[in-house]
Amino acid sequence: MEGTLLLTPAAFRTATLALLLAAWIYFRRSTAWRVLPEGMPWVPADLPWTRKFQLPFTRVRAHLRDFQGGSDLAYEGYKTYNKAGKPFVVPSFVTWQPEVVLPLAQVKWLVDQPDTVTSIDRCLVKDLEFLYTAPAAWQFTRPFHVEAINKLRLDSLVEDIAEEVQAGVDEQWGLDGDAWTEINIHSTMLAVLVRITARVFVGSPLCHDAEFLEAAANFISSISGKAIIISFTPELLRPLVAKFITKGLKRWNETCAKHMVPLIKEERLHRRPSDQRTMPPPKTLLEQLSRLAVRSTHAKDRDPFSLSSRLLALNFVAVHTSNHALENALVDMVSPPASTASVFAELRAEAEEVMQQNHGTWSKTAIGQLVKTDSALRESLRLNTFKARGVERIIVKKGGVVLPSGQYLAEGTKVGVPVLPIHRDPELYDDAMSYEAFRFCTTNEVAGGKNGRTESPRRAGHVELVNTSETFLAFGHGRHACPGRFVAAYELKLMVAYIAMHYDIEPLASRPENGKFSDFSIGSMHDIRVRRRKPEESK
Ligand code: HEM
Ligand SMILES: *[C@@H]1O[C@H](CO)[C@@H](O)[C@H](O)[C@H]1NC(C)=O
Ligand SMILES: *[C@@H]1O[C@H](CO)[C@@H](O)[C@H](O)[C@H]1NC(C)=O
Repeated sequence: MEGTLLLTPAAFRTATLALLLAAWIYFRRSTAWRVLPEGMPWVPADLPWTRKFQLPFTRVRAHLRDFQGGSDLAYEGYKTYNKAGKPFVVPSFVTWQPEVVLPLAQVKWLVDQPDTVTSIDRCLVKDLEFLYTAPAAWQFTRPFHVEAINKLRLDSLVEDIAEEVQAGVDEQWGLDGDAWTEINIHSTMLAVLVRITARVFVGSPLCHDAEFLEAAANFISSISGKAIIISFTPELLRPLVAKFITKGLKRWNETCAKHMVPLIKEERLHRRPSDQRTMPPPKTLLEQLSRLAVRSTHAKDRDPFSLSSRLLALNFVAVHTSNHALENALVDMVSPPASTASVFAELRAEAEEVMQQNHGTWSKTAIGQLVKTDSALRESLRLNTFKARGVERIIVKKGGVVLPSGQYLAEGTKVGVPVLPIHRDPELYDDAMSYEAFRFCTTNEVAGGKNGRTESPRRAGHVELVNTSETFLAFGHGRHACPGRFVAAYELKLMVAYIAMHYDIEPLASRPENGKFSDFSIGSMHDIRVRRRKPEESK
């Protein structure tokens, strides 16, 4: 056996020492643990995982519990502590950084904090390991992409979006009017959303380029898996591991960059500040971004490659969230109790009526008239957010902050709020657990809510999909509320309206459960059966 010994004893000792040293440095660097607030209760309650002295692997077990059921932990803490106005701590399998979950009464405090106190970027970068998965993408100095999204002129994009919806759905679901076709709701809707988003982000003709679309779809489909592998790798080894596993991401990014960079360069050439008054207003996000970039004083912001990476990262943020919302909305509409109450048929009638009133063309006004569709989408988002916890931030203020309830949070602590437990709290929503598609489009009078703090949306009259509040957090709330929600609302409403007018969906016997992972919902991976409506059926 001696012949197989690869290392001499001396080399072995050196290697062991090096390993121990590396482990020690790694341990010292994983400061996440040491910013846990003292004396704060934790879940799961049966594992004393935040104690200083604990059995080996208690922390590992706590994190595995998050893997098995992160949303259950959120409910447990919500019921036990948040309802009594207290924050609690939960483990996170995805980032291995524990999170302080604040009670409803402190949501407003959290969303009102300036970026010098709490950072959303630090969370995004960490959760998606952007430093490794998209090097150039998140090292920009100003988040002017938010400004660019806010400046999108949606009314000028309606027809473009409607065109892509039609072409995309027809392609994915087929035109067979005689037989039911079994389709996968997740992958087909993803393909359509990639296409629509490309139209809004980069415009035509690039949004129809097969090579570009494939690379963009591959990039956004694989980034989160890679991010999780990276977050599992000890910090010191990350650059090395990332180098190997992000090869695909890099290749797809190169392909997308190859197509986007020339457009960005051309846009910049024609959008010197002096030209901007005479140029037609920018339409796509690429044009908006290029225009804002010109004004930046930072070289990185103006770099077309950096801009193209930024667009790709935004594409990821935009497509998955929208697809999750759409999948859930469609599944909810055709499952009991909605299937028996013919929600889908009501949405179809609404879409047909709106189309007739608007002479067959979509516009901002027409989309605004889809109030039932708007409510149905919002109701599905209420019951099925893609994460149970949200509004996540890292405390960045030197010296930390003190919560309204008096506890101290050190710099580096991760905080969030229990979005899904709030959305499903029977004290905040009547019949909170049941899907009521038209819950938000009642026109009853506005009534003050419980404790004067919140309003029961049921009684608050018409509330739109895009309206955020302390009790509706699917898009966050406050200064960092999702800037893409307006474009998402347009896309989703046009999708549902088109599908309702042109397809039948076979009702499901029961609402299929969503896949879960940590506190994420990974959506409904189920197949459904669809059939094109015959021309004489659809007006
Ligand atoms: C139904 C679809 C969508 C959902 C449910 C959603 C949800 C969210 C949530 C929960 C946040 C974090 C808010 C917070 O922590 O306070 C967020 C942020 C963000 N979303 Fe969306 N989003 C959607 C669509 C989009 C689209 C289509 C875009 C791009 C066009 C977009 C761009 C962004 C950006 C850039 C941020 C970061 C905002 C900031 O840093 O201030 N989202 N979104
Ligand atoms: C994407 O590719 C461009 C062009 O090669 C490069 O400059 C940029 O750093 C890459 N970004 C990512 C996200 O890998
Ligand atoms: C909902 O959002 C729209 C668009 O931002 C706004 O005009 C409206 O006042 C909001 N409504 C409520 C009830 O907050």
